[in-house]
Amino acid sequence: MGDLEITTVGHDRFGFDSVVPVNVLRSLYLRPHYITSVSSKVNIEGGHNVENDDDDDDIDQEHRKMMSGFHGNISYQSKSIYHPDTRSISYTTLSRFHPVRLLSTEKRKRILVTGGAGFVGSHLVDRLMLLGHEVTVLDNFFTGSKTTVNHWIGHPNFELVRHDVVEPFMIEVDRTWGHVNPIGPRACYDEGKRVAETLTYGFHRQDNVDVRVARIFNTFGPRMNPADGRVVSNFIVQALKGEDMTVYGDGQQTRSFQYIHDLVDGLILLMNSDETRPVNIGNGHEFTILEFAKMVKEIVAKVQREDGISGRDVRIINKPMPTDDPQKRRPDTTRAKEVLGWQPHWTVAMGVEEMVRYYKAKIAEGSL
Ligand SMILES: NC(=O)c1ccc[n+]([C@@H]2O[C@H](COP(=O)([O-])OP(=O)(O)OC[C@H]3O[C@@H](n4cnc5c(N)ncnc54)[C@H](O)[C@@H]3O)[C@@H](O)[C@H]2O)c1
Repeated sequence: MGDLEITTVGHDRFGFDSVVPVNVLRSLYLRPHYITSVSSKVNIEGGHNVENDDDDDDIDQEHRKMMSGFHGNISYQSKSIYHPDTRSISYTTLSRFHPVRLLSTEKRKRILVTGGAGFVGSHLVDRLMLLGHEVTVLDNFFTGSKTTVNHWIGHPNFELVRHDVVEPFMIEVDRTWGHVNPIGPRACYDEGKRVAETLTYGFHRQDNVDVRVARIFNTFGPRMNPADGRVVSNFIVQALKGEDMTVYGDGQQTRSFQYIHDLVDGLILLMNSDETRPVNIGNGHEFTILEFAKMVKEIVAKVQREDGISGRDVRIINKPMPTDDPQKRRPDTTRAKEVLGWQPHWTVAMGVEEMVRYYKAKIAEGSL
């Protein structure tokens, strides 16, 4: 594809180092956090069950590293040990967590992420956890799921609370991130966002609350709910399953998409900057929907070829355009560039390829 490979994400700027290797992030969403006992592919050290795992040796190695120290499946079983002499019982946890940074107490932040079990929230949680912070996720699992963060459950730096943000909640933290998505018809969504911004600035003026406001544009990546009806997940899943890809209207309407790691980079930079005005975070590169469909089709075919699969040649078909589908949506990210020194690094093609591999693994395990 000609794109330079990206090996790390994050920045060391504004006194906050958020750099982590991409492979580590991948290991958190690409490999399942369980082992399969009946599979020819199970190996004692790695113990994963994803098919077609010949192409990403790095991830395999990462996974093996994470698992080293465990010997055989038995170590993964829930174990409680009874000590007759003291008539006590000890429990062991099942998980071995990915190493997280050790930070000094001044640097370690207590961070609340509302909606942290959702798509955007869970990626932010991964990053903050790897960086060594203490993270509390508050989520009512309305659209999110425990599975997006289950690889941290039980970690001493991590807490998951099932709670609806509309109810009061008492917690003392250094930082709060809001990533709740109260779904509903578009108008409610827009008005909800406006009210949230107005209130945020109200608290800022009246009570001197230190605030940051990010305006997030179309984002895609692993853990996106394929049932959301978003164009990126629709196209990828349709192409992977060999179904027709549906384009609404003539496909000349344009969209821009940013990859999740770029968004998380932007959010972390904004949080650590002094910028209190709203900042747009998005990728300005525009595609027509038809161009995008063709790109997805090609990338899916390429990944399948690499895996030795000859997928069906999928067709791109047109259906009538739904009402109020905007013809153009493109963020102006000048402020993010000027104030944060942020700009997207991931091309859409690179992001789509990551997501194709993620959905492929989900389809292989039967959860999609
Ligand atoms: N993904 C995008 O392209 C995009 C674009 C623009 C804005 N955003 C915004 O980013 C935020 C996160 O979006 P996402 O794509 O991760 O959505 P998501 O649905 O995956 O995540 C939202 C999370 O909030 C939780 N939640 C919803 N209502 C709640 C409540 N009342 N109490 C507690 N938890 C609740 C959900 O269970 C879910 O885990 C939202 O505010 C969304 O509007 C996202």
